[in-house]
Amino acid sequence: MKTEYLGLELSSPVIVSSSPYTSNMAHIGECVRHGAGALVLKSIFEEQIYRQAASLDKMEGYGDAGEYLERYLGDAYKAEWLELVKQAAATGVPVIGSINCVASGDAWIDYATSMQAAGAAALELNIFLLPTDRHASAAEIEQHYADIVRKVASAVTIPVSVKLPMRLTNVLSTCDALLARGARGVVLYNRFFEPDIDIEKMTFQPADPFSEPSELRNVLRCTALCSHVLPQLDVAVSTGVHDGAAAVKALLCGARAVQVCTAIHRHGYEVIGQIGRFVDEWAARHGFDTLEAFRGRMDYGSSEGDFYQRVQYMKYFPHDAE
Ligand SMILES: Cc1cc2nc3c(=O)[nH]c(=O)nc-3n(C[C@H](O)[C@H](O)[C@H](O)COP(=O)(O)O)c2cc1C
Repeated sequence: MKTEYLGLELSSPVIVSSSPYTSNMAHIGECVRHGAGALVLKSIFEEQIYRQAASLDKMEGYGDAGEYLERYLGDAYKAEWLELVKQAAATGVPVIGSINCVASGDAWIDYATSMQAAGAAALELNIFLLPTDRHASAAEIEQHYADIVRKVASAVTIPVSVKLPMRLTNVLSTCDALLARGARGVVLYNRFFEPDIDIEKMTFQPADPFSEPSELRNVLRCTALCSHVLPQLDVAVSTGVHDGAAAVKALLCGARAVQVCTAIHRHGYEVIGQIGRFVDEWAARHGFDTLEAFRGRMDYGSSEGDFYQRVQYMKYFPHDAE
């Protein structure tokens, strides 16, 4: 079933999210073969360049050649990514380039314009600034997001979406600010690397990076709110879409597309086609010819939209507890 996302016509609302599954042409080929509506390439990380330069600098005793190394590694890393954009675009499936840069510097613009030139149909900005300064207010931090979007959106002609972190105080006001700076869509939400602790060795270890299906619920609420209050922004749901029913729920809440990563990890690339077919069959069963005929039918503006405002368990606890 077709959808329109960021002004692009997609053959399916199932998009493969920025992940290892879109990091090379072998994996991308599998995504295409199984009917992905679009591909969000693995993010290009500016930080990666600094890390590589720093480790080489230390290991090989390059002295103060750090700046040269950064430039050399930066060019090589970027060239590799742009080649991936070019080859992925040649598959005919729309390619969305994903960018993560340090702070709000000019590298955002460099990567964005280069990806556009290499054939990206749209961009997804993977922005996250971890607050570690107790004096920085939420408004100041969110202003960074808006600044980055303004910079990028004014430098390219392709549509720009923003992949947001989950714990914003007021996602609607952030989205409103991003819309005003030229964002065409938002991805709700990113799911970041989380550190865990081995208590016996007292060392850090990475937590399981994959999602659980139950994580979708909070995303549905925000999707329903955002797509109703800010219909000018296209919403794609990421986090917790593990099967066709989850995709239908996201679309009913107003999303134009769903993004999958963990579902591929758990069930293989076949899940892309399975989710797409489930949506088609569900729509046919309910008499809907197009996705637009049911998209947003259960968003915040629907007749029972008040349900989304319910956050306390007043009715159930404590009296009903066994
Ligand atoms: C191993 C791994 C690598 C990821 N790399 C990226 C990345 O480079 N850029 C990004 O925006 N999201 C990245 N993500 C987040 C996914 O795109 C996705 O938003 C997240 O996994 C939640 O979706 P899911 O429930 O379908 O897994 C990564 C996730 C995993 C598990």
